[in-house]
Amino acid sequence: MKSPVPPNSPSTPDYDLETWRKRIPIIASGGLIPMNNCSQAPQTDVTRAAAERYLDSWNRDGMDWDEWISEVGLAKREFATLINAAPEDIAVFSSVSEATSAVASALNFNGPRNRVVVSEAEFPTVGHIWLAQESRGASIVWARVTEGEIEPVAYLEGIDERTAIVSACHGYYLNGYVQDIEAIAARAHSHGALLFADAYQTLGAIPVDVQALGVDFLASGNLKFLMGIPGIAFLYVKREVAQRLHPTVTGWFGRADPLAFEVKQLDWSATASRFDSGTPPVMNAYVARAGMEILNGIGVTKIRAWHEVLAQQLIDGGRERGLTLHGTNDATRKTVSTAFAVDDSHGIENKMRARGIIASARGAVIRLAPHFYSTLEDCDRALDSLAEAVRSA
Ligand SMILES: Cc1ncc(COP(=O)(O)O)c(C=O)c1O
Repeated sequence: MKSPVPPNSPSTPDYDLETWRKRIPIIASGGLIPMNNCSQAPQTDVTRAAAERYLDSWNRDGMDWDEWISEVGLAKREFATLINAAPEDIAVFSSVSEATSAVASALNFNGPRNRVVVSEAEFPTVGHIWLAQESRGASIVWARVTEGEIEPVAYLEGIDERTAIVSACHGYYLNGYVQDIEAIAARAHSHGALLFADAYQTLGAIPVDVQALGVDFLASGNLKFLMGIPGIAFLYVKREVAQRLHPTVTGWFGRADPLAFEVKQLDWSATASRFDSGTPPVMNAYVARAGMEILNGIGVTKIRAWHEVLAQQLIDGGRERGLTLHGTNDATRKTVSTAFAVDDSHGIENKMRARGIIASARGAVIRLAPHFYSTLEDCDRALDSLAEAVRSA
């Protein structure tokens, strides 16, 4: 079934989509349609070449730590560019879980400010990490999700003079709903609390400016809309905040001079790298930089404009096919990731894959998450396959 393009929407993006499709082997070979960017982006020629660059260096030189560590610095720089921060404000981890744990480890929950306000829209790992702080004196207060959406008002009751930090994802992993982080950060700050944002589901899909959002921390991995791979994540820490925190999840890369080799001296890097810990994920940094260069090169604002067209196509096309949308039907309040309620989401994901569509099952929904390279036809084919899988279930 072919859905009409929404009125006043461009029918093509403001960049060369066809060339990009040729650079994504899984599409170019005519094999599969990747609609799973909320879970894992497809490989491109440049991300593959980046991985090979590391393998070649390792093979050729045996070891080149100067080059490898400088590549990690370049990946931090690329991430900083994406979020309008300075490279010195970025720390590197192997997962968002690790980054969140490092942030939690820097906070003291023994005094009167022991509250952590956590949204129910957090990816479970983030909720788990805050719950684990209860044994350190933290008291968790939940901000409620209602019908797949969460408004700043959900935080009002929780945030007060007892609040140490507010943990709010930018995009809801289940259905792409985008929270008003700026309003939530302002509320947190007006009560002297910090704001931690998990932007894993929005970076590369929505323009993010940490200065404008006013966040204290912002974390993301690289394998979703950032076109990278598992095993690397980045954390932005606002300069003044970093300078007064001492994470107990730490290591030699968090020192003022990691090469000082002073085993009895715990000094702190003057920048966000005090949140770094051990040897960074070097090979992943090569791939991560290459992936983020794609996004920075095209421009996330242009990508977002096309995403809104794709999201509208998925919302309207889902309705026409009798599918049940999860969350808002307003494409401007969500990422391109669009979720439909289904029984047996994993069974449906498998059926769709057998028909050439890679979708992403999560709990009771199937998520369709196209990206900058996707066409309206991809969306229609994915919806047809989903509707067929639901009918035959
Ligand atoms: C919003 C969000 N946060 C965190 C995670 C998990 O991150 P990690 O496995 O890097 O800890 C995911 C994974 O899907 C996610 O979607």
